[in-house]
Amino acid sequence: MTAHNTDWIVPRAQGYDTNRSLREEIIGGLENVMFNPYVAGNAEFKPLESDFASKLGMKYAVAVQSATAGLILALRACDVGPGDEVITVGNSDISTTAAISIIGATIVLVDILESDYTIDGSQVASAVTDRTKAILPVDLYGHPSDCIALRKVADEHGLKIIEDAALAIGARYANHHVGFYSDLTIISLAAAKPLSSSGNAGMVVTDNSALAEKVSLFRGYGKEFDPSRTPPLSDEHVVEGFNLPMDPLQAVVVHAKLPYLMDWTDKRKRIAGLYRSALLDKEVKLPTFSEDADPSFSSYVILSSRRDELHNEMRKRRIETGTHYAPAMHKQPVYRNNVIAGDSLPVTEQVARELIALPVSPEMDDNQIDYVLTAIEDLF
Ligand SMILES: Cc1ncc(COP(=O)(O)O)c(C=O)c1O
Repeated sequence: MTAHNTDWIVPRAQGYDTNRSLREEIIGGLENVMFNPYVAGNAEFKPLESDFASKLGMKYAVAVQSATAGLILALRACDVGPGDEVITVGNSDISTTAAISIIGATIVLVDILESDYTIDGSQVASAVTDRTKAILPVDLYGHPSDCIALRKVADEHGLKIIEDAALAIGARYANHHVGFYSDLTIISLAAAKPLSSSGNAGMVVTDNSALAEKVSLFRGYGKEFDPSRTPPLSDEHVVEGFNLPMDPLQAVVVHAKLPYLMDWTDKRKRIAGLYRSALLDKEVKLPTFSEDADPSFSSYVILSSRRDELHNEMRKRRIETGTHYAPAMHKQPVYRNNVIAGDSLPVTEQVARELIALPVSPEMDDNQIDYVLTAIEDLF
């Protein structure tokens, strides 16, 4: 078993192992950024943006500081603001809902499917009002949402789809990478994510050139960048923007890893398959997927009424299980009075109570996989 500088025998993510194996390439890239003159206009990550977009079969990728930043910029680029409603789910990281309310819009929650815990498309149409501006599905755990069904609702009502694929790079739906059916899609490249930087980073992908330009504009102070312009012309702001580009040092790390994305996704799927086989005859609920869904398994999630006990026991064995995300968003103190959550969200609440996420990472070696499988045999 590989020695790690954490207390975990099986940590949730091991991207640092890959960093070690790509040491020369990463250090070379870092030196290039650090010891050469600064390139204006974020030119350092232009090559990453174009390689990233083509990897996912999309036309444009905009490199941003984090997925949280990407969500805010995407909502802003879609002109979502005060008075508008955005329909999303309550089983997500707070970044999803926070992005909506930070730009002044109202969060509207609908429930999730019992099968794969993604947004229940059948509830979305009835949540649409004349204030609705966007649908924000979340591909949690690497489970792709059914954005074909959402696209129909969105087109009928003139809404945008902003897909939170923070955890779902490598996942596909109907033979396309996540994002294909959405207007803007946000991917996290933070240190524990399936394609990881060593800190925070994110990407917004789209096929829509006008939206890509708008995200880019809001990312960079609202200035239309043109390298041929010199001050004072280069200081013209056409909108009030943010300063949220990707750190070029993180871009180097992500770029070095990008070629391996789909190999790693296959490794994730293999590990998820092994867990699934080991759990089939146990008293737990396993996720199931539609024929169109090809999940990337940022973790392998199961439901159990003994969740807390099992989670604690796994952690005692130094296996870094998670409970993403409890409590559900509409039960969080910050949202008690300021989300629209219908009468109840029973599946969302069950997931918050019962979900355990088992670690899945492409760097896991056979001993680590066996260690988790043995723990499953013993404890479940
Ligand atoms: C579903 C979801 N959305 C957004 C985010 C935010 O990502 P970031 O840390 O890159 O801001 C996360 C982070 O875990 C997430 O799980």
